[in-house]
Amino acid sequence: MVYRALVMGAIVVALRQLLPVCAVSVTDIQGASWLSPLRGQTVHNLSGIVTAKSTSGFWIQGEPVADVRTSNGLSVFTSSKTILASVNVGDNISLSGVVSEFRSTSASNLNNLFITELQSPANITVLSSDHAIVPLVLGASGTRSPPTQKLSALDGDAGADGWLAVPNNQSLVDVVNATLQPDQYGMDFWSSLEGQLVTVKSPVAIDFENDFGEFWVYGDWTVTGKNSRGGLSITFGPDGVPDANPETVIVGSPLDGTKNPTVSLGKTFEDITGVIVYQFGFYYILPLTAPVVASTPSSVIPPATIKPSSDSECTITIGDYNVENMAPTSSHMSTVASHIASFLNTPDIMFVQEIQDNSGTKDDGVVIANLTLTNLVTKIASAANASSTYSFLEIAPQNDMDGGEPGGNIRQAYLFDDTKFSLVPGSAAGGALDATHPVVGVDGKVTLTFNPGRIDPTNPAWNASRKPLVAAWETPSGVRFFTINLHLTAKLDGSSTQGDARPPVNGGVDQRIAQVETIAADPLLSQAFVQDLLSMDPNANVIVGGDCNEYVQTRAVFAPFVGLLTELDEASGVPAVERYTYLFDQNSQQLDHLFVSSAIVQRGTAVEHVHVNNWAESVSKRASDHDPSVAQVQIC
Ligand SMILES: *[C@@H]1O[C@H](CO)[C@@H](O)[C@H](O)[C@H]1NC(C)=O
Ligand SMILES: *[C@@H]1O[C@H](CO)[C@@H](O)[C@H](O)[C@H]1NC(C)=O
Ligand SMILES: *[C@@H]1O[C@H](CO)[C@@H](O)[C@H](O)[C@H]1NC(C)=O
Ligand SMILES: *[C@@H]1O[C@H](CO)[C@@H](O)[C@H](O)[C@H]1NC(C)=O
Ligand SMILES: *[C@@H]1O[C@H](CO)[C@@H](O)[C@H](O)[C@H]1NC(C)=O
Ligand SMILES: *[C@@H]1O[C@H](CO)[C@@H](O)[C@H](O)[C@H]1NC(C)=O
Ligand SMILES: *[C@@H]1O[C@H](CO)[C@@H](O)[C@H](O)[C@H]1NC(C)=O
Ligand SMILES: *[C@@H]1O[C@H](CO)[C@@H](O)[C@H](O)[C@H]1NC(C)=O
Repeated sequence: MVYRALVMGAIVVALRQLLPVCAVSVTDIQGASWLSPLRGQTVHNLSGIVTAKSTSGFWIQGEPVADVRTSNGLSVFTSSKTILASVNVGDNISLSGVVSEFRSTSASNLNNLFITELQSPANITVLSSDHAIVPLVLGASGTRSPPTQKLSALDGDAGADGWLAVPNNQSLVDVVNATLQPDQYGMDFWSSLEGQLVTVKSPVAIDFENDFGEFWVYGDWTVTGKNSRGGLSITFGPDGVPDANPETVIVGSPLDGTKNPTVSLGKTFEDITGVIVYQFGFYYILPLTAPVVASTPSSVIPPATIKPSSDSECTITIGDYNVENMAPTSSHMSTVASHIASFLNTPDIMFVQEIQDNSGTKDDGVVIANLTLTNLVTKIASAANASSTYSFLEIAPQNDMDGGEPGGNIRQAYLFDDTKFSLVPGSAAGGALDATHPVVGVDGKVTLTFNPGRIDPTNPAWNASRKPLVAAWETPSGVRFFTINLHLTAKLDGSSTQGDARPPVNGGVDQRIAQVETIAADPLLSQAFVQDLLSMDPNANVIVGGDCNEYVQTRAVFAPFVGLLTELDEASGVPAVERYTYLFDQNSQQLDHLFVSSAIVQRGTAVEHVHVNNWAESVSKRASDHDPSVAQVQIC
C-alpha cells in the first residue's frame, strides 16, 4: 500500500512537471498548508474577481471551496502602473503568472512567514465588470471565528508552556509546512484567510496605535482574557497553557490612502472591511478605507482605593512604578508626582525604577541621582493630596554598566515615609559592587551585611542590567521587613509572536531566568538571597517587586520563586484578566509584580493596578509606558 501510494505520488509529480498547468483556481494555488503546492509554477487562465487594489498589486477572489483551510483570495504582485490601470475592483479577469512564496530577504524580515502570491502577471483579460464584491464576514454573524488560545501547533509541541515555553525557536512554521488547523490555531486561522476580503464587525481596539498608525483589534466573536476596559490580558487557558490571544488582528494602513484615527484601549469602531495579508511579522487586515470611531471609553481614571493606614506599625502600603527614564528636568515628572499623590494615595514606600542620574542622558561620568530624586520628592510634596513627604534611597551604579538609555544610568530607588520606618541600623550602605547578604545580628534578628545593598552585582547574570536594590527596614517598635526592588533585563531582540520561529524568541529570557535564580534560589550557588534569608527566619517579611519585564505565564522565569514567594495578585485574588500594567501589540500584560513571603500572605493582602497611563486618551498623554500598582500588607 505504502509503495503504491509513493509510486502514484511520483507519477503525479512527473505529470505536473511535463504538462503546463492549465486553468487552475485560486484555491488550487492556496492549498490547505502553509506553502503552495504550485510554488514556482507558471499558471494560465486563472480567473477571479478583483476585490481590492494597492500601489503594489491587487487581490482576486476565486470560487470558494468547502475546505475552510483553503483561502479563496490571492495577492497579485505588480508595480506596473499599466497593469494596475487595466483592472478595476469588480472585474472578472483571467490572467497568467508565476506562483510564488514571498518574503523580503532583508535581515529584519527573515523571521517573517512566506506569503503566497502571483508574480509577473500577464495576459490579463477583463471578462466582465461590475460584479458585486461580497466580503467574508468573520465572527458571530458570519461563519468563521478565530480560535482564542493558541497560535501554532508547533508551540503546543513544546508542552504545557505553549508559546511561552523555553527554549524558544525549536521549529520553523515554513519548514514544517504542516496542514492548516484554523479551528485550533490562530496563525493557521489567519493564514487560511490570506488574500481574502473580510469584514470584522464591531471592532474593539486593544492597544494604542503604533508609530505607523496601525492598531490591534478583535471583532464580534468569542474572546478570552477580556478585561474591564475591553483589552485582552495574557492569562492561562482552561488547560493551564498560556493564552496568546490569537483572536486578534492588526489594522494596517488603509488601501485608499486615508489615515487611521487615533486609538486607545477600548475604543470601538464601525465595521472594518479589508484584505488579510501578512507583513512585518503579523497578520493584518488592510482596510479599504480609514475605520470610523464608534465609541470612546471614559477619560475618567479611578484612583486606587488602597490608602495608607493609621495602624502604621503593622500595616504598610507599597507603591510600584516604572517612571520611564526620569531625569531631573523630565517634563513628565510633574504628572508622575501627581499620579503618586492623587492616584496611589502617597504609599508608605514607593519602589521606583528608571531613575536617571543627575545629568540625565548626558554620558559624562555622573552616576549619582540625588538631584533627580530630590526633584521628584519635592514635586510629590507639592502635588495636591500628598499625604506625606518622602525621603529617598538609592545606590549609584558603576558608570554605563547597568544598561538602559545610554548615559542615563537608570537605577531603582525607594521613596519612603521616614516617620513610619527607617533602615535597620548597624550596617554600612553598599556601593555599586558590594554584594549584600542576610545575616543574623547580635540581637538574634536577621539584618543585612550592607544596608541598603545590591544582590550579587558582579554575577554575569546582571551584566548590562540593573542590580536589585535591597533594604532592611524597622518600624519604631522594632518590626522588621525586607524589600527587594527589581528591574530585570528587557525583552530586546525578541521575535514576532506570529513569526516563523516557534515558540517565538522571548528576548532576554535566559538572562531573566539567571537573574531570578540569583535573587531567589540558584541550585548552583552557595548563596541565593531570598532562600538564605528565609532559612534564617521563615517568618521574615519579604517584599520583592518592580519591573520584571516578564509575565508570570512565562513560568521558566519565575520558577525559582515557587515555594518561597507568592505574587500579590494571586494572594489577593485579583481577577486574572485585571492583572496587567502594560500594553504591547495585542496583549494587556503584567510586567510589574510584587511578590511576598508566606508570613505576609497569611495575614491578608490587597493590590491594585492603577491604569493612569494605559487608559490614557492617547499614547502621547501617558507619563510612562507602565501603569503603577499599589498594595497593602500586614507585617505583624
Ligand atoms: C486559455 O484559455 C483560452 C481560451 O479559452 C484557450 O484558448 C487557451 O488554450 C488556454 N490556455 C491554456 C494554457 O490553458
Ligand atoms: C507544502 O505542503 C503542501 C501540501 O502537502 C505540498 O503540496 C507542498 O509541496 C509543500 N511545500 C514544500 C515546499 O514543502
Ligand atoms: C469569472 O469568469 C470565469 C471564467 O469565465 C467563470 O468561470 C466565473 O464563473 C466568472 N465569475 C463570475 C462571478 O462571474
Ligand atoms: C499569454 O497567452 C498566449 C496565448 O495563449 C501564450 O502563448 C503565452 O504563453 C501567454 N503568456 C504567459 C506569460 O502566460
Ligand atoms: C531560529 O532558528 C533558526 C535555525 O534553526 C535560525 O536560522 C533563525 O534565525 C532563528 N530565528 C530567530 C528569530 O532567532
Ligand atoms: C485631590 O485634591 C483635589 C483638590 O484638593 C480634590 O478635588 C480631589 O478630589 C483630590 N483627589 C483625590 C484622589 O483625593
Ligand atoms: C547630592 O550629593 C552630593 C554629594 O553628596 C551633594 O554634594 C549634593 O548637594 C547633593 N545634591 C542634592 C540635590 O541633594
Ligand atoms: C555584557 O553585556 C554587553 C552588552 O550587552 C556585551 O557586549 C558583553 O558581551 C556581555 N558580557 C558578558 C560576559 O556576557
